[in-house]
Amino acid sequence: MINSLDTVSKEQRQTFLDIATEAACAGGAILRSYWGNLKEIEEKRPGDLVTIADKESEAIVLSILQRHFPDHGILAEESGVLGNTESRYLWAIDPLDGTTNYAHQYPFSSVSIALLIDGIPSVGAIYDPFRDEIFRAATGLGATRNRLPIHVSKTTELSRSLLVTGFAYDRTLVEDNNYAEFCHFTHITQGVRRGGSAAMDLAYVACGRLDGYWERGLSLWDLAAGGVIVREAGGIVTAYDGSEHIPKSGRLLATNGHLHKQMVDELALIKPLPFKFPFGR
Ligand code: IPD
Ligand code: CA
Ligand code: CA
Repeated sequence: MINSLDTVSKEQRQTFLDIATEAACAGGAILRSYWGNLKEIEEKRPGDLVTIADKESEAIVLSILQRHFPDHGILAEESGVLGNTESRYLWAIDPLDGTTNYAHQYPFSSVSIALLIDGIPSVGAIYDPFRDEIFRAATGLGATRNRLPIHVSKTTELSRSLLVTGFAYDRTLVEDNNYAEFCHFTHITQGVRRGGSAAMDLAYVACGRLDGYWERGLSLWDLAAGGVIVREAGGIVTAYDGSEHIPKSGRLLATNGHLHKQMVDELALIKPLPFKFPFGR
């Protein structure tokens, strides 16, 4: 079978990565400019916020990508599907990952940009405008933080690990809300963090600050860039059951590799907590 990347040269991949970086940093500058200065915060659905910073960050990211790659397809969180849907290239954009944090002036958010080639996440750039950290990777080119190589952690035992997770906006409406998993892993590890930016959570696994991450209900724009960066940093990214295919429910597991099978085995055992549903709000 021809690997789709065989038809995309290393130089091309580097160019895609450089433009993704330029776009992510431009989006990040918008996030800095509105920091602490939001006049209005809209709610798309209960708990799911959007601000002018999300919209303007997306606008500048789109303008850069469309100027360089007018024939590519785009999936952007706030604008939806744009461009050439027949193209083998699809950009997945989260212009502000961590809007809830941002709206509360909790400085943990990012701009996340991925390029999928023939449906496979192949380039990723995640920019944290608060720490001025840019996490980047392209398949076969390795992963970096501020241009220096990064690698996943060496932790081999869950009992010595620090994990991270998140909770989707439908968490009060579904039984499969990740509360049981959160309790379970909190009990058997050194701790579970809730970062509030899936892209940053993945970037932190990639650079070894965290040992593993799981979350359900993710969208392509949340996970695609981080997935490439974790893989290129030596980690493993799969569905909860260890399979390569990430199902629509977005049940993503990303680890340093050493903990992967242990986490797959634990996730298979966990049953939802016996809450009464739906909670409503
Ligand atoms: C959210 C963040 C959060 C995760 C949610 C995402 P948004 O993205 O990544 O960490 O738990 O599932 O939807 O809405 O801030 O772009
Ligand atoms: Ca997001
Ligand atoms: Ca977002």
